[in-house]
Amino acid sequence: MTDRPRPLVAGNWKMNGLIASLSEVSAIRDAVAAGGAGRAEVAICPPATLIAAAAGLCKDTKIAIGGQDCHAARNGAHTGDISADMLKDAGATYVIVGHSERRTDHAETNEQVRAKAEAVIASGLKAILCVGESKNEREAGKTLAVVGDQIEQSWPKGASAKSLVVAYEPIWAIGTGLTPTPDDVAEVHAFIRHQVQRLLGADGAGVRLLYGGSVKPSNASELMGVRDVDGALVGGASLTAKDFMGIAAAYKG
Ligand code: PGA
Repeated sequence: MTDRPRPLVAGNWKMNGLIASLSEVSAIRDAVAAGGAGRAEVAICPPATLIAAAAGLCKDTKIAIGGQDCHAARNGAHTGDISADMLKDAGATYVIVGHSERRTDHAETNEQVRAKAEAVIASGLKAILCVGESKNEREAGKTLAVVGDQIEQSWPKGASAKSLVVAYEPIWAIGTGLTPTPDDVAEVHAFIRHQVQRLLGADGAGVRLLYGGSVKPSNASELMGVRDVDGALVGGASLTAKDFMGIAAAYKG
């Protein structure tokens, strides 16, 4: 157990949060400072409009701030887009790439996700690469094949255990209240670990593999206790400090 990577509990606020919501960031910061996340690292990925303010509130603390997406280019004529360099400039250290909502809403392909992850790493930030199957794919017994292809095809060049986190998020579990059984999570995470080690060699053991999809305080300990689960990517339950810290508490003591 001693060589397990430090767990990461990351909150993905999605398209939620106004300036008033920064009070939740302060509350999370204070709860983490008081030991509420135990040995876990905590990251908050608010909408881009709040990154600089959230980073200011968390300056000189252990809370990391992340973006939810970036463009693959460093800068240029891409109206409305944000580059990894800009996120870094605003105070982010993580960037989520390939979230299923981006893959669906913006038709992002594995190749585009790979280019984004490479941009994140080139900027000196850490990418949280999301993968996961749909309900139909699970029912058709294709989960491992789909997740395997996503990892293979969106794997960024230059990745290391320091620069890449993988989040397994079954699409049918996101925002639905449904979760896979611990055995199902264990099977997929073992598969991802194997694949990551094939791609990275020994360094692959240190890549954090997060589980995401309807994580809440009531199921966090069970899901975080699954072998090869090194933390959580939390959507809805990350919007309040109370629920988010109820999840991070799985790593206390
Ligand atoms: P959820 O979202 O926790 O609301 O299910 C997870 C995610 O999409 O990252």
